[in-house]
Order: sequence, then structure tokens, then C-alpha cells
Amino acid sequence: MSPQNLLDAEDLARRRLPKSVYDYYRSGAWDEISLARNREAYSDLEIHPRVLVDVSVRDRSTTLLGTATGMPILAAPTAFHRLAHPDGEAATARALAAVNAIMVLSSLSTTAVEEVAAAGGTVWFQLYANRDPAITRALVERVVAAGCRAIMLTADTPVWGVRERDVRNGFHLPPGLGPVNLANLDPEGEARSRQGSGMGQAFDWMLHPALSWKELESICGWSPVPVLLKGLARGDDAARAIEAGCAGVVVSNHGGRQLDTVPATISVLPEVVEAVAGRGLVLVDGGVRRGTDVLKAIALGADAVQIGRPQLWGLACDGETGVQRVFEHLAHELRVAMALAGCPDLAAITSDLVRPR
Ligand code: FNR
Ligand code: LAC
Repeated sequence: MSPQNLLDAEDLARRRLPKSVYDYYRSGAWDEISLARNREAYSDLEIHPRVLVDVSVRDRSTTLLGTATGMPILAAPTAFHRLAHPDGEAATARALAAVNAIMVLSSLSTTAVEEVAAAGGTVWFQLYANRDPAITRALVERVVAAGCRAIMLTADTPVWGVRERDVRNGFHLPPGLGPVNLANLDPEGEARSRQGSGMGQAFDWMLHPALSWKELESICGWSPVPVLLKGLARGDDAARAIEAGCAGVVVSNHGGRQLDTVPATISVLPEVVEAVAGRGLVLVDGGVRRGTDVLKAIALGADAVQIGRPQLWGLACDGETGVQRVFEHLAHELRVAMALAGCPDLAAITSDLVRPR
């Protein structure tokens, strides 16, 4: 039977994928407490719907950094799509273009950025800054020339979180697959991608443990496109990002894959929204699986949400069509939730609709 929702899609993907790939995608760090909390925190929030509102037309379109998009749901940057399906990131990009949603392409893409950007939709690029600022700048110039319209710099990854399943499975990339957009940066490091045992060993070479606010300011200064900072969980960090020149922030704990026991992202969203105070975009990701989750995030002040793992489940289930279905399912659930909560458009999704249980 074809998946009816994002949770079904994971079930089916688990049956289709090799164990080490499924484990890599689904894992959180250490005891996976934050991974679980990301989901639990959504169920701990209740919706207080309004009745007798005309919801015969519902509009879930919005504009993000000047780009009109059909839904407030983006594809979060996720690595190595060709582990899920041979068509990889190109299939994901075509699916996102078909549903008129924005794709954020990972630095660890297994498909060249030029091919992904050619799919026709809006693509933003997630950046793992290199230790050498000249290499970072050259990469940004390349992806902007390819057509990427924003940079999402990831801040929660000075080193890799420990995902113990990957260590046990000896996770690394198979021959023939590599982080192609980082090719030639570090040939020795690249060789380790195919030999290590988990992210810590196989991909330590491409992280920048000394990345600082000063460097963020510099990147915001020279980047030809808007820069978002991804992977923060505090109001003061969010304010600092905006003051450094960021166009927005992404409240994220990397899907519970970095520091375990950090709070659920939806719990810290209000603090970040207050600190940003309308000066930039606020996105949130982590555990968004239902239309009601999207509604709650918007009610608490997010401009949009991102989904990470579900796009990989869709890709594993049925390539491009599978990814398209995942986004269609979630967007449809959002439309139904909006109708039932008395919200004809996203602006009507206000904070009074959501309260803790
Ligand atoms: C990620 N994430 C991620 N983030 C990032 O900035 N660059 C990356 O390359 C990746 N790669 C990646 C791979 C896989 C397999 C996962 C599951 C996650 C984190 C991602 O962007 C996002 O923050 C989370 O996935 C959101 O949580 P959910 O939706 O997966 O619960
Ligand atoms: C991960 C990386 C690639 O979480 O961000 O596995």
C-alpha cells in the first residue's frame, strides 16, 4: 500500500533501505533524547480552534526572502540523497519544483549543484564553512553562479555529534558516491569518506571547529545572496545573527543529531521569535511530521518549517514521485488543519490558537 502520511513513508523506507543507510538517516546523537523530544513537544501543544469562519478558500502560499512559494514548508538540507535512490538530489529538486516549494541543498550533496539548480525550482544552499575562507568563498560563488538564491550556514556542527548506530555499522560512503561539490578540496579527506566509521571519522575533514561570529559577519558582508544561520536554540544567538547581517535564522538541533538533551526546537521557537523581533526570517525544523505541527510552528511565530528525514523516506520509497507525495501529503494536512482551526490563510494562524496541554 502506498504511504498515507509521513510516518507511513518511514515505515516503507525502512523496509526498502539497507540497514546502515536507514540507521544513518534516522539516527540521533547518544541516547536520542532530543530526537524524541522534537516530536513529543508537538503533541504537548493543543490547538484552540475558532469556529464559524469562512474557510471555503484556504491560502497556504507565502513569500520567503522575496520568493513566492506554494507552502510554508521547505526541504531541510540533508546529505547523500543518492544513498536513498540513484536519482538523488536531482530527483528531490524536481519534486520540490513540481510542488512549488523551496529546496535547501546540503553541502554534502551527492549530485553537482549545477544539475540540482537546473531542475527549475528555487534552491538555497546549505554551507559547511571551510577552515580556509578562500575555499568557502569560492564554493559560495560557484553555487550562486549555478542559481542558488540564499546561503544557509550551519552553526551547530563544530564537530560531528556521535550517532552510535553509525559507529557500530561502520558507516561510510560506498565507492562511486562522494560529496561532489567539495571534490578536490581535500583529496585525503575525501578518501576518508569511504573508509571511516561514522561521521566523526569519515567526515571530520570538512568541518570548521573554529568558525566564529567574526567569520559570520565577514560572510554576510561579501555574500551576493542573503545568508541565514541554521542550528541555533537561544534568543541571544538569534539576535546576534541578525546583528551580524543575517537575513534570518533557523531554529534547529539538527534533528537531534548533534548535542543530545538540548530542548525540542518548538519549545525554544518563541524565545527566538521574540529576539529576532521582525528583523529577519525565522524558520524551524525538527520533528515536523503532521499538518498540525506546521500550524503550531506558524502560530508560535515561525515564517515556515523545514522537514529533513521525510524527504529521504519519500525518495527511498519512490524517487521523485515519492518526495512529491511527501510534500503533497503534508501540505494537504496543513490545509485541512487550517480549515478545522478556522484559518483561511497563514496570517490567521495566530499565537492564541496554541497553548500547552
Ligand atoms: C541532516 N541535517 C543536515 N543539516 C545540515 O545543515 N546539513 C546537512 O548536510 C544535513 N544532513 C542531514 C542528513 C540527515 C540524514 C538528517 C536526518 C539530517 C539536519 C537537517 O537539515 C534538519 O535540521 C533535520 O533533519 C530536521 O529534523 P527532522 O525533520 O529530520 O526531524
Ligand atoms: C548529518 C550531516 C551530514 O547530520 O549534517 O549527518
